[in-house]
Amino acid sequence: SSNAMWGGRFAEGPASVMREINASIGFDKRMWRQDIQGSRAHAAMLGAQGIIAAGDAEAIDAGLEQIAAEYADAGVPEDARLEDIHMHVEARLAEVIGPAAGRLHTARSRNDQVATDFRLWVRDAIDEIDTALAAFQSVLIGRAEEHAETVMPGFTHLQSAQPVTLGHHLMAYFEMIHRDRGRFEDARERLNECPLGSAALAGTGFPIDRFAVAEELGFERPTDNSLDAVSDRDFALEFLFAAATCAMHLSRLAEEIILWASQPFGFVALSDAWSTGSSIMPQKRNPDAAELVRGHAGRIQGCLVALMTTMKGLPLAYSKDMQDDKVPVFEAHDLLTLSIAAMTGMIGSVTFRRDRMLHAAEAGFSTATDLADWLVREAGIPFREAHHIVGSAVKLAEQDGKPLDALSLDQLQAIDPRIDGRVFGVLSVGASVASRTSHGGTAPAQVRARIADAKAAIGMG
Ligand code: ARG
Repeated sequence: SSNAMWGGRFAEGPASVMREINASIGFDKRMWRQDIQGSRAHAAMLGAQGIIAAGDAEAIDAGLEQIAAEYADAGVPEDARLEDIHMHVEARLAEVIGPAAGRLHTARSRNDQVATDFRLWVRDAIDEIDTALAAFQSVLIGRAEEHAETVMPGFTHLQSAQPVTLGHHLMAYFEMIHRDRGRFEDARERLNECPLGSAALAGTGFPIDRFAVAEELGFERPTDNSLDAVSDRDFALEFLFAAATCAMHLSRLAEEIILWASQPFGFVALSDAWSTGSSIMPQKRNPDAAELVRGHAGRIQGCLVALMTTMKGLPLAYSKDMQDDKVPVFEAHDLLTLSIAAMTGMIGSVTFRRDRMLHAAEAGFSTATDLADWLVREAGIPFREAHHIVGSAVKLAEQDGKPLDALSLDQLQAIDPRIDGRVFGVLSVGASVASRTSHGGTAPAQVRARIADAKAAIGMG
């Protein structure tokens, strides 16, 4: 039989593969709450404007409320003949309230309907992710506070560079996550315009009140161009970009956890709850969750590229290609939500091994810059020359197989007579980090000051 929604001009029903390729109910049923929310606002407006009878508007509202209760209770029962969530809700409404259900779609198309539902869904997702990211930030702050004085090697090129504190290192991720929250918030602000009332593409001649619907749905205002409103998916792309960037940050932290948990580093021991064993090697304690966070970041990035590619060739206005917008957004959302939760759990419970970190910080001549800075400050030597002198000291220490601060004063003075005994005050890793007091530097006092700012920024007590 032909389609109940649009079958008026069709003699035959669709081929089964036609039905299958067209169907989106399998994934868009996730938007049922937003679909019902949008329809209730639309119906109330139609009633208030006298476009449909007040009694019909009330019946529609009560019917939609009942359907919401049914779906909340038992999920959306899928019917293969009804292609998407919009048709499922409308068909069920007809069963519940009878012919008045047919008036709901007045002055509306699925094109503005789906654009509205999807914006509502993405908006909800942003709010949920923001809460999760704030929780992750407070875990980062807590661990950073605990380790404001813990010395570890700082790297460039993954080579020992200068000692830093673990607190400082962890707070670097706080900053990244803070920018991520800002990107989501920014996307939310631009997203928050209501497409409903744009109808299929050209607007409608019915005397609708788009401002009332926008307000009812928590949007700032109605969109200003009906063609753009039904064919714009920038909000989904911005969400995906923010998600991909956030996932990239989580992936970098995951990569560090993986590296730090390896035996040669041994900087961290993952808790039992966040480790996996091996079916063959009994000694194993693997960082699988961190590896999956690193892996998921690639998939989330793939979601962004997928939708960008879907959109780039579409003429105005709606084309069915756009139905493919949902799967990548849902997938990115699910992967990101899981990744945030996993990183929050891992960082909250990981043991940082101060001894191993300190030992590694002391290796690799990481205070060479401090010696050069001392020569500049105390002996008035130009930095370039100081750099050269310290190079000779590092070479000598390397030959002797000892750290810089184990060279004798005689050895140092043989390299440059302007060096005196006070130099030993700057050659330890502790002295090195304590000296980096510039704003945003690694000195424990700076780290504590930035932690205080961070707590204020996220409203943490
Ligand atoms: N399921 C469709 C989607 O997600 C709804 C819009 C259908 N509109 C249309 N003109 N066929 O895009």
